[in-house]
Amino acid sequence: MKTPQIVRTRAQLRAALDAARPESTGFVPTMGALHSGHGELFARARAENDLVVISIFVNELQFNDPGDYAKYPRTLEADVELAAAAGVDLVFAPDAKEIYPDGAPLIAVSSGKLGELYEGASRPGHFDGMLAVVAKLLNLADPRHGTYRAYFGQKDAQQLLLIRRMVADLCYPVQICSVPIVRTEQGLALSSRNALLDDDQRHAALVISRAIRMIAERAARHEPLNIDDAIGLFQMEPLVELDYFVVVDPRTLQELAFNCQDTPFTGEGLILVAAVVGGVRLIDNQPI
Ligand code: PAF
Repeated sequence: MKTPQIVRTRAQLRAALDAARPESTGFVPTMGALHSGHGELFARARAENDLVVISIFVNELQFNDPGDYAKYPRTLEADVELAAAAGVDLVFAPDAKEIYPDGAPLIAVSSGKLGELYEGASRPGHFDGMLAVVAKLLNLADPRHGTYRAYFGQKDAQQLLLIRRMVADLCYPVQICSVPIVRTEQGLALSSRNALLDDDQRHAALVISRAIRMIAERAARHEPLNIDDAIGLFQMEPLVELDYFVVVDPRTLQELAFNCQDTPFTGEGLILVAAVVGGVRLIDNQPI
C-alpha cells in the first residue's frame, strides 16, 4: 500500500500536479471523516483515472450553525490511511488561511432559487458556502492537462445538482461524475455525521431508509405514493424529528404534488428526506 503525497498549500498542490502531468485526473473533494462511502468515490476515481487527488477541508462557510462546525468530526490520520488503502495519489489538506487568505470571498457564486429549497431552507447560506469552496477547489485541483473529472456522492442530491449547474453555467472544464449512496446492511446511508450518533439514535435513524423504501416500492409498482404513510412512520420514532419528506422532480426539485397522493405513480421522481436525530442532521434520497 502506497502512502499518498500530502500537500498543505496551493503552491505545493500545483507543483505536484505539474510534475505528474497525467493523461487523466480524478478529483474528490471531501471534508474528511472519511468512510466507505468516500471509499466508493475514490475507487471510481481510481478505476477511471491515472492520477487520483482528494481534498480534505472542513469548510466553515457552509455551516450555518457554528456548533455544527465545531463538532464536525476531524480525523486526518485515519483519513490518510483510508485514502492510502483506496490508492489515492495526492491529498490536499489546506487550512482555512490557504483557502480563504482574505477571509470570506467578496465575489461568490450564488446557488439561486435551487439553493433556497429543502437543505437551503433549513440551513440558510449552506449552498452558497458549499459552492464557494467547490468553485475554488475545482480550480485549484485542475490539472490543466488531459481529462479532468470530479466525483461527488449522490447522497447529497441537492448539492450534486447545484454543482452540475455551476459547472455547466460557468463552463468549468471538468466532468462531474456521481456515485450511488452506500448504506449499512440495515439501510442507513453512510455519512460522516453518523459517527456522532449513539446506538439508540443509529437504530432510530433507520426509519429514514424504511420510509424511503416504502415509497420507492410503491413507485416501482406504479401505485399511488401516499407519502403521508411514510411521514407517519416518523411520528412513531420519538428520537427522530422529521424536517421534510418530499417527492420532487429530479431536475427542478419542485414537488410532484399530483403524482404523490391518490394517482398511480408514473414517470420520474426523487425522494428527498432530512431528519434530525439527537441534534444530528441526516439526509437521504432515492430516485424513483
Ligand atoms: O460533500 C461534502 O463533503 C462537501 O460539501 C464538499 C463538496 C467537500 C464541499 O465542502
